[in-house]
Amino acid sequence: MAIENTLSIIKPDATRRNLTGAINSYFEKQGLQIVAQKRLQLTKAMAERFYEVHKARPFYNDLVNFMISAPVVVQVLRGENAVLKNREIMGATNPADAAAGTIRKDFAESVEANSVHGSDSADNAAKEIAFFFAEIELTL
Ligand code: CMP
Repeated sequence: MAIENTLSIIKPDATRRNLTGAINSYFEKQGLQIVAQKRLQLTKAMAERFYEVHKARPFYNDLVNFMISAPVVVQVLRGENAVLKNREIMGATNPADAAAGTIRKDFAESVEANSVHGSDSADNAAKEIAFFFAEIELTL
């Protein structure tokens, strides 16, 4: 297995409830390192571009508006098989389907307000990391 980087976003429902530290402890306890992290307020244009792949989906406008409703924390997680491992730590997109002990089971409010985003492939991880972070921020 290879050491990978993956992009994670702690979403507005979670920052609003002051859950950044609680969520970060799930990553760290399960062997992922937080190698870069920043809290920011997404603009509408940024959220639209980030979720462009979902543009045709009925939930797109609501998703964009939700993602700009409060600050987010964007972060790069690193570890063995980090893309897949983070998806296991997060749990299923819909918290109703998420396994016990996952972030979404423990914290998510709904399929939209589901507390975290994680890249779904190594290719998308590289694109999503480059969307939020400059190379100089990823040297450690
Ligand atoms: P995320 O991993 O950020 O990627 C796309 C997001 O769309 C997803 O998590 C959900 O929060 C959101 N979303 C909202 N409604 C739906 C839906 N009906 N099905 C799937 N994803 C949805």
